[in-house]
Amino acid sequence: MMKILLMTVLTVTMSTTLAKAQAYKLPVDRVWQFARQQLKHAVSEWEDSIQYPRFTGSDGKWLTVPIQDWTSGFFPGCLWHAFEESGDPSLRAAAVRWTEGLESIQYLKSHHDVGFMIFSSYGNGYRITRNEQYKDVILQAARSLMTRYNPTVGCIKSWDNRRWPYPVIIDNMMNLELLFWASQNGGTKEMYDAALSHAVKTMQNHFRPDYSTYHVISYDTITGRVLTKGTSQGYADSSCWARGQAWSIYGFTMAYRYTKDLRFLQTAQHAADYFIGHLPADYVPYWDFQAPGIPNEPRDVSAAAVASSALLELSKYGDASRLKSKYREAAENILGSICSAPYLAEGTSSQAILNHSVGHKPKNAEVDVSLIYADYYFLEATLRYAQQPK
Ligand code: GLY
Repeated sequence: MMKILLMTVLTVTMSTTLAKAQAYKLPVDRVWQFARQQLKHAVSEWEDSIQYPRFTGSDGKWLTVPIQDWTSGFFPGCLWHAFEESGDPSLRAAAVRWTEGLESIQYLKSHHDVGFMIFSSYGNGYRITRNEQYKDVILQAARSLMTRYNPTVGCIKSWDNRRWPYPVIIDNMMNLELLFWASQNGGTKEMYDAALSHAVKTMQNHFRPDYSTYHVISYDTITGRVLTKGTSQGYADSSCWARGQAWSIYGFTMAYRYTKDLRFLQTAQHAADYFIGHLPADYVPYWDFQAPGIPNEPRDVSAAAVASSALLELSKYGDASRLKSKYREAAENILGSICSAPYLAEGTSSQAILNHSVGHKPKNAEVDVSLIYADYYFLEATLRYAQQPK
């Protein structure tokens, strides 16, 4: 009897271990242990005065920004991811504190990034806690974003007071999730229609025939026509900025999730094919796919992190199993690379989780540093990876 019991226990233990090993080909447990350690260290440093990190300085320490900065939602978002992964109550308490520090951002109307800021903080917070006050904040943020929608152009304006009269950047696809979600959770049909229109216009105007993306499209507000196609953060107007391409994969995959519009799925697939087809041997892109000094140009791990998370979601959609495996394999290759040196910050002076990202190369700002949004999308990708085993 004892022998049978022992055999049964052993068989169950072995099959569980085997299933786990197959599900987690990547070292996610070790990476998460390191991620929790980095996040808790930052939280303890800012215990007395709450701070929002954006990028690291040359000493590896986080540099922080006011809450109006487009990146302020990502640190609370990392804390929500870490709580979701671990169930650790101290991470939940920190996530709540850092999220609620952004409450006034629901009224921000001065740029389009209210979507990034509120959805990565309050959006994750609501998904995990179902706190109704968080939902109210998200809905108000969606109303604020709607003030930037011009029906003649059919898009949300990205920036004010720049050299373009009505700039719309590819990154802006990411802010549409706030509107799509709000329209299905107590918001208005106008929010859905605006997000849909913005996605259609972006699909029509931001892509070249090879499905690389322009960064900035400027529109005429009288006629709604395109005035110029160019870049701000890329190498050249005609080049493809790597993080912009990653935003396009993520944005159109997300737009397909909410609308089931097959045009968006196909756009995401084409954008992904371009991204994957232009990766170097270690799967981490140079900051711009046409940067002139390749292979002596900086890599952008943030683009790799955003794309890996997007590709994991994309691998769930459509009928073509060849494409699904292609996107899953590409995500796994990218994650495998950034889960190890030199990209994982383990053993370095950085307070972040990942090294070697690029913020704004043409301005020579935040070049080869850690960026909080690289960490955020990396943690999201590892969660997605663990939740959707092969
Ligand atoms: N949305 C700004 C950036 O990607 O740098």
